[in-house]
Amino acid sequence: SDVKPFVLDFDLVSGFCTSGKVKPTQRRVSDMVAQFANETAARAMVEGGDPLLYEFYGLDLPEDDSGVLQFGTTILYPGKVGEEYFMTKGHFHTILDTSEIYYGLSGHGMMLMETPEGQVDWKEIGPGEALYVPGRWAHRSINTGTEPLVMFFVYRGDAGHDYGTIEEKGYRKLVVERDGKPAVIDNPKWKV
Ligand code: PA5
Ligand code: NI
Repeated sequence: SDVKPFVLDFDLVSGFCTSGKVKPTQRRVSDMVAQFANETAARAMVEGGDPLLYEFYGLDLPEDDSGVLQFGTTILYPGKVGEEYFMTKGHFHTILDTSEIYYGLSGHGMMLMETPEGQVDWKEIGPGEALYVPGRWAHRSINTGTEPLVMFFVYRGDAGHDYGTIEEKGYRKLVVERDGKPAVIDNPKWKV
């Protein structure tokens, strides 16, 4: 591709590009009401000010070139909708067999993953930990802590995002707070 070498700053604690060279995309509760187990609680939160769930950076790099690497940070705020922790939408990659690396910068959380065949897995992630999400595994970040969960990510630039499958079927598992601690439970709304 004709991309020239460049440098971007991402703060190690906040995750933000403080120079302002790139701007994050924001997602609020209203962007994903149907993804939460307790949609009534989600709608009430939208009415009550529609809190910001997360922000993430995507760069203006070619999306049709398998040689490009897309990268940036995700900043996922702490909080809950009902008993379910704040989370990202989650997605498969459109080119299903493309992997992704996440590196924890600050805060604590979990990556919830599943394959189209129904394998499920989840891994805790925190500062200094690198998480490998293999190709074929849908991935959703979940903030189980009290500080923003900040992670740096890298993936093949033409991988693409398939949000539709998760929007229709949901994830097989949910991460909720039980007795003050994270618990992974079956998603009652999951559709075969
Ligand atoms: O590439 C990724 O998996 C991340 O950059 C996510 O896109 C980011 O965390 C936002 O999540 P989502 O795309 O599921 O809304
Ligand atoms: Ni991804």
